[in-house]
Amino acid sequence: MGLNYYRIKKNTRKARKLVIRATSIAGSGHPGGSFSMAEIMGCIFFKHLRYDPKNPQWEDRDKLVLSKGHASPGLFSNMALAGYFDISELDTLRQLGSRLQGHPDLKCPGVEFCGGSLGIGLSFSIGSALAARIDGRPTRVFTVMGDGETDEGQVWEAAMTASKYKVDNLTAILDRNFIQQDSYTEKIMPLDEELVGDDLSEMWRDASRWKVGDKWRSFGWNVIDIDGHRIEQIDNAIKKAMQTKGVPSIIVARTIKGKGVEHMEDNPKWHGQAPKKEFVPIIDMEIDSQSMIAPSIIAGDMTNLENEVKRCVNGRADYIHLDVMDGQFVPNKTFDHTKIKELRPLTVIPFDTHLMINEPVRHVRDYIEAGSDIITVHAEVCDASSFGQINDMLRASEVGVGLAINPDTELPEWSKEFIPTLDQLIVMSVVPGKSGQKYIEATHEKMHRLIGILQENKFEGYIEADGGVTLDNIGSCFVDGARAFVGGSAIIGQQDVRGVIREFRNKIAYARRRMLIQKAYELGGKELVAKWIDLHIIGEKKNQLLQIAKELGY
Ligand code: DX5
Ligand code: ZN
Repeated sequence: MGLNYYRIKKNTRKARKLVIRATSIAGSGHPGGSFSMAEIMGCIFFKHLRYDPKNPQWEDRDKLVLSKGHASPGLFSNMALAGYFDISELDTLRQLGSRLQGHPDLKCPGVEFCGGSLGIGLSFSIGSALAARIDGRPTRVFTVMGDGETDEGQVWEAAMTASKYKVDNLTAILDRNFIQQDSYTEKIMPLDEELVGDDLSEMWRDASRWKVGDKWRSFGWNVIDIDGHRIEQIDNAIKKAMQTKGVPSIIVARTIKGKGVEHMEDNPKWHGQAPKKEFVPIIDMEIDSQSMIAPSIIAGDMTNLENEVKRCVNGRADYIHLDVMDGQFVPNKTFDHTKIKELRPLTVIPFDTHLMINEPVRHVRDYIEAGSDIITVHAEVCDASSFGQINDMLRASEVGVGLAINPDTELPEWSKEFIPTLDQLIVMSVVPGKSGQKYIEATHEKMHRLIGILQENKFEGYIEADGGVTLDNIGSCFVDGARAFVGGSAIIGQQDVRGVIREFRNKIAYARRRMLIQKAYELGGKELVAKWIDLHIIGEKKNQLLQIAKELGY
């Protein structure tokens, strides 16, 4: 089974926007903590949790216990997307008589636990897990806790109990965002190591400071440390936790409070404050502009692709772009599914398989079984029937569905029926067949045309720019609307893969900031630009944004 990466990613993006909408309408709520657990919730709801939204009390269901109850907007937004109630009901958040309150309660269908008084969710979860075991039911319990709430003594009583009773149908997830209420956990009650100053990135960079896992290990728990915003790491950790028998498991997920909206990130102010309505369209645009970097390994040593994959892992790439060429669809020949199968065990990073082959419908199954997470086939060698079959096979295997078009190919009429559910559209900016070619400038104009057609046809996926993408043009590719960026010669072809990926991200961040300031200007002139920039109080952000506004003449 694939990772279902894009289903999780698309729902996580929607859930973030729903949190912003609901809290801005309510004028109160907890966006920061809803965002730090966003990918965790997405993985649980759209990959692992067994539930029936039409029958919330189904006996054999799994149970999700949100112990950090104040993050109820994050829970409710996912429950609405999962079908427990209509999305429009989120607009009643925190209103008198609404089923959706500031902290979850049992009035809301699907809520398992009245969270909010912190520190008690784990105890409740252990009771549920033990009851299921005694009743012989297959129920698995997932508990999401905040790091601040583990200051509560009751948590550690529960930790001992779970270990004593070997509660292995319970997976706890610690949303380790280093912030509680109006300050930093490592200042208030250090779980790892005392934080001097308020630069949280220190806690991320230096794994030797990570001590909280040792606390749980010493209580007899299986501990898995991950980056809590990497879907593939969360998925892998949940799988491992559920396969671990005889001991309870906890996933220590390092996260960023307010992740996805720059002015909220690492900013205690957004623990319990709602965004103002005037900023919502800009924040939505920001949430829609999260981007991925996908190094193309064929630009490296073809005799040692294992090492090229390792360079991507070390570089913290978001995807690994695998260019399969059959020597027919394109003159060149690279590798096929047997090589992908060999590379698969090296990393959990999503495999973004780009099939430049004839008759893909006959071969796609091999690439599913090789462990691809996203498979893209070319429109030039498909029609409605063959692409329909490919689409069905990929969906059934929880693999992302991609369509690619060559520089001189427009979106074929038959593809329109698939656009609303399509996960990825690769817009080739070179004639496919090798890396190291120059970006075809006409692609910018073509992208503008495509964006209109895609919006008309309700595209919710991601555009991947592939071919000749460099540090010089990635900003304009981003502004065109691409959100995934393949880099062959510009990344794998370079010495320092981690360094160049970091530069790619900086270029994207600059282009995004510029786009959002222009959006603020469009909506409210210089006044709204100034207000938008003033929100960015953490680190150097404000000065950097002021510089961009100056460049734009605002
Ligand atoms: C070309 C491939 C691209 C290529 C990218 O047919 O689909 O993925 O390898 O390499 P650069 O970035 O060097 O153009
Ligand atoms: Zn490619």
